[in-house]
Amino acid sequence: MATQPAEKRFSHKKLERNVTLLGFFSLIAVAIGGIVEIAPLFWIDNTIEKVDGMRPYTPLELAGRNIYIREGCYTCHSQMIRPFRDEVERYGHYSLAAESMYDHPFQWGSKRTGPDLARVGGRYSDEWHKAHLIDPRSVVPESIMPGYAFLADRDLGATDMGRDLTALYRVGVPYTKTDIAKANDDIRAQADPDAGAGDLVKRYPKAQVRDFDGDPTRVTEMDALIAYLQMLGTLVDVEKAGPQEQAHAPTPVAASGAGQ
Ligand code: HEC
Repeated sequence: MATQPAEKRFSHKKLERNVTLLGFFSLIAVAIGGIVEIAPLFWIDNTIEKVDGMRPYTPLELAGRNIYIREGCYTCHSQMIRPFRDEVERYGHYSLAAESMYDHPFQWGSKRTGPDLARVGGRYSDEWHKAHLIDPRSVVPESIMPGYAFLADRDLGATDMGRDLTALYRVGVPYTKTDIAKANDDIRAQADPDAGAGDLVKRYPKAQVRDFDGDPTRVTEMDALIAYLQMLGTLVDVEKAGPQEQAHAPTPVAASGAGQ
């Protein structure tokens, strides 16, 4: 080993042996590392690459999402397909970060008692969902999922969705004034095929308009929850945004740690 000048060796020894000095300089070293990671975030507008098709939830989907959270569906279901071969083969294209950019709170996770739901939209019929939610064992005999039959009997009590939209708007979800003003009307327009939903579909492309629970006379919690499940993963054309353009592909939701 090349010998260093005596005074240089001495100064480093001093640093290593003096706990105050060592602590002080360690702090500076860690702070530099921190600044390098944090500072760029102040200059870029968004850490999520935009993908075509992503839009905020319609009020009916959002009401369904509120029920999903209220009932704790997330304790058994994640909404994050990780970029692993087994997951992609089972659930479809891995989730893109942009697909949950309007989620507050997000539904990522690796705790799965039931399957991942990130792309469950369109996989089953509304009737299947209704039967499954009322009594999961009527369609999947070995299921351990609890039943939620009461959802079909309860009117959707979402009488003030404008406030939900306003809250989300404040944390950055791009709802417009019109969206907020029409939130309650939009619920009826989406769940009732006769209500005329042209305006809704213009503001929320790909919104699915129909009676979801087989009871057109009223809007129930079942309507809202099925509307939400049926839109999951249907907005973004992932094949176009996806792996073919690997070099510019939008960021997948970060996957780390063990899980199922
Ligand atoms: C105790 C855990 C548990 C809870 C809570 C739970 N589920 Fe499930 N879920 C499962 C299991 C296990 C399956 C797989 C068997 C089946 O299809 O019933 C499943 C399946 C599903 C499926 C079918 C997914 C597929 O790809 O086949 C949907 C949709 C679903 N659950 C929605 C919900 C909703 C909505 C809620 C809340 C209202 C909920 N689950 C609550 C455990 C749970």
